[in-house]
Amino acid sequence: MNPGSTLSALLYDPFLHLAVKSIRRSVQDELKNYQDKALLDLCCGTGNQMKILARNGFTNLHCVDFSPAMLEVARKGDHSINLYLYDATATPFADDSFDGVIISFAIHEKDRTTQESLLAEAYRLLKNDGILLIVDYIFDQDTSRLGKAGIWAIERMAGGDHYRNFSKYINRNGLQSLISVDQFKLIRFRRKLFSGVILAIYQKKSS
Ligand SMILES: C[S@@+](CC[C@H](N)C(=O)[O-])C[C@H]1O[C@@H](n2cnc3c(N)ncnc32)[C@H](O)[C@@H]1O
Repeated sequence: MNPGSTLSALLYDPFLHLAVKSIRRSVQDELKNYQDKALLDLCCGTGNQMKILARNGFTNLHCVDFSPAMLEVARKGDHSINLYLYDATATPFADDSFDGVIISFAIHEKDRTTQESLLAEAYRLLKNDGILLIVDYIFDQDTSRLGKAGIWAIERMAGGDHYRNFSKYINRNGLQSLISVDQFKLIRFRRKLFSGVILAIYQKKSS
């Protein structure tokens, strides 16, 4: 299935709803002190995470995705989230525009160069001391076999470059090899979904 198609976009939330529900809640929980702060979701897809934040009193929300079909789904509903059809690796926002940036399930699927550009853009857009929340896969000794099997199955279904990039991401130790310790300080992380998903919170170090 074409990941940018209207059908994929329409099926995305119903398909993943149960799996990601508790992760979305944890992201909201981590952002509880950011209700009126400027928050940006890079590669937001259907905007599901931001809609949950909007329903829970967050007021300054911004979503970027380069898929018109995904943004069409994100547009649905009664909310005031700002939606932008941009490439998340090169947005027109000014430096230091946001207090928080979320990148959720949007790193593992990309090639290394794009992953690095996405993180560089998040760094550029964050204010000093702003926070970066990353949700993505982790495979290590703490990940359960069930978690690994389920994630491999989902990624195999995605196929093509998505699957190849996922495999490389896992083999290169995921986020750990990607995040620059000169740019971001790890605040804490939480594990979800049989310990196969990590919610990592970083703080931007002053440039
Ligand atoms: C797996 S979905 C994740 C969506 C959402 N963040 C979530 O947690 O459900 C990845 C999204 O990234 C978007 N995407 C991929 N590369 C992008 C890029 N360079 N710029 C903007 N969006 C991109 C895709 O269109 C897709 O909507």
